[in-house]
Amino acid sequence: MDTPIARHDNPFHAGEQAVHERLGIRERMVGLGQRVIRTAMPEQHQRFFEQLPFMLAGSVDGDGRPWASVLVGQPGFVQAPGAKRLDFHTRPIPGDPLADGLAPGAQLGFLGIELHTRRRNRVNGHVVALDAGGFSIEVDQSVGNCPQYIQGREFTWVRDAADLQPRGTEALTALDAEAQALIQRADTLFIATQAPAAADGADVATGRGADVSHRGGRPGFVKIEDDRTFLVPDFTGNFFFMTLGNLQLNPRAGVLFIDFDTGDLLTLTGTAEVVWGGDELKAFDGAERAWRFRVQSGWRLREALPLRWAFRDWSPHSTLTGTWAEAEARREVQRLAQTWRPYRVTRIVDESRVIRSFHLAPADGHAVPPFQAGQHLPVRVKTATGELLHRTYTISQAPSEGGLRLSIKREGVTSSHLHDQVHAGGVIEALGPRGQFTIDAALRRPAVLIGAGVGITPMVAFARHVVTEGFRNRRTRPLHLIQVARSEDLRAFGAELQTLNQRANGAMKLHVVLDEGEGAPEGARQGPLTLDMLKTLLPFDDHEFFLCGPPGFMQALYDGLRDLGVRDARIQAEAFGPSSLKRRPDGAAAAPTPPAPAANQATVTFLRSGDAAEWTPEHGTLLEFAEGKGLNPPFSCRAGHCGSCATRLTAGRVTYAEPTAWRPADGEVLLCCAVPAAGGGERITLDL
Ligand code: FES
Repeated sequence: MDTPIARHDNPFHAGEQAVHERLGIRERMVGLGQRVIRTAMPEQHQRFFEQLPFMLAGSVDGDGRPWASVLVGQPGFVQAPGAKRLDFHTRPIPGDPLADGLAPGAQLGFLGIELHTRRRNRVNGHVVALDAGGFSIEVDQSVGNCPQYIQGREFTWVRDAADLQPRGTEALTALDAEAQALIQRADTLFIATQAPAAADGADVATGRGADVSHRGGRPGFVKIEDDRTFLVPDFTGNFFFMTLGNLQLNPRAGVLFIDFDTGDLLTLTGTAEVVWGGDELKAFDGAERAWRFRVQSGWRLREALPLRWAFRDWSPHSTLTGTWAEAEARREVQRLAQTWRPYRVTRIVDESRVIRSFHLAPADGHAVPPFQAGQHLPVRVKTATGELLHRTYTISQAPSEGGLRLSIKREGVTSSHLHDQVHAGGVIEALGPRGQFTIDAALRRPAVLIGAGVGITPMVAFARHVVTEGFRNRRTRPLHLIQVARSEDLRAFGAELQTLNQRANGAMKLHVVLDEGEGAPEGARQGPLTLDMLKTLLPFDDHEFFLCGPPGFMQALYDGLRDLGVRDARIQAEAFGPSSLKRRPDGAAAAPTPPAPAANQATVTFLRSGDAAEWTPEHGTLLEFAEGKGLNPPFSCRAGHCGSCATRLTAGRVTYAEPTAWRPADGEVLLCCAVPAAGGGERITLDL
């Protein structure tokens, strides 16, 4: 009988609930847990376990140390005579600590995993029978698992399935060179943890003793920190957080690495501590958290398995994740954010009659800088006469896609130079990515992306990012992408958006609005885009709007949305270049604070050189002043829109004649618009 748990309002124990609480998903998980955590195995799981040649087991030895182990046998060695019972016609591999934890009444965790189909299901139970030929468990909990991060592998037998004798057994108290090498190339591991029973027995009633879980990623996803410690990223999974929940209550853990080529096992026990954040994690693609494992002891069982596996393919989810080496390289390049770095143009693609994409790869040996979808890159190119041209361009791709793609309209001096003079193999220079026009892919509120003309570029980045993150997290933020163009031949990314629309699996609605109907794709609307048309395209909902396009278009749309009652906070707009927007703040508008008066004279110290000079209003902005003193601070728009010139102010005060579209962070100034302020700005120090 397939019985959902019914004994608790919340089927998760205190440790799991603490994690859910921390991540703000407690309410959601109660309902989900009640639906999918069962007290008996569904028929499908019973048959699945019966066809497996191996299963993972999590146990706890007599000293309370968890271990992750493998049980092996010809398919059929596991039998499910009913929904509440599993019979294992095999014994632990000789030398495996599972033998110690296998006793009548012992609570064990099991994971059935089929690498060639990426199916996996878990089951927990307690031992009800044990003899020389095997053991049986009564099922306490049964949970289906997702296929994420499982690399495709095909298995073969290399000897009799009953021959489980390792060809060598070595006790370890630390990670020797061989163990470290296996861990460094591993793309898969298994972790066993155990939540202790609460004094009132509540956690026993949830039916789980030890748990065993799978973790996968790209080789290099486990970082060796020293000969007793390694760090493992935690990617988005099923949100149950059974492993991390157990660790909240009991830091002891066991970790198993399988050498799929040799059949060696490396099984370790020790403690694990959850790492909830930090710069190291931020730079790791896909890592939400991590756990750091400290080895206390372990075993290497050589050629213990009569099975071998041939690698077939990467899990599509694993390919969206990084490695620690990449994370370190990204952190390194973050330090170069204010440096003009060379990028080689690796490919040029025409996206429309006037928009051309330039694919870039770093030409200085450093990594691609991390960025958020929607951010832009300040670019500079040198003309044949040696003149430096500056401009800022949006990165038109998702951060997890590798490389950098700038999609540029032939318009103005810099863009025309790029179109006409820069070819594949050429080099341009860029500062680190920046920009505050970004999107949160994790929100559930529908996002309406409206891009007109070349204003489609950030929308392409947003849509690619939201769809990719939706695939990674198995829940996609609903999107309406409205592309406005004058004509079909001026509409960029037509095929790409169509493909993305299909990949989004219903979560994205693509609408095309063209002023001229010739060659328009099926379903395109006749422009211009009006508010009445917008109302027909969008269902009634609490949307968040993202706008990018020519200034007049943006302002009219913004004003119209505000008149319809859409809050200012729900309208995001790309604000660099001439497309700056005049906003009407929500609520009773506070009277704008008048800018502080400028100083009549100030001493400006440049921190890096230690030089100081006298500034007076005739010197203009601090950018002009610094340039006049022979310095070359980075800049792009010179109008307070792009953030390229943001510089740390370590002493004194500055003021701006007008509020800037870019909001400098605390302790930062926008050199292109700032001047020393009266009453505190007479002595200022800039990190230049
Ligand atoms: S150069 Fe763009 S904000 Fe200063």
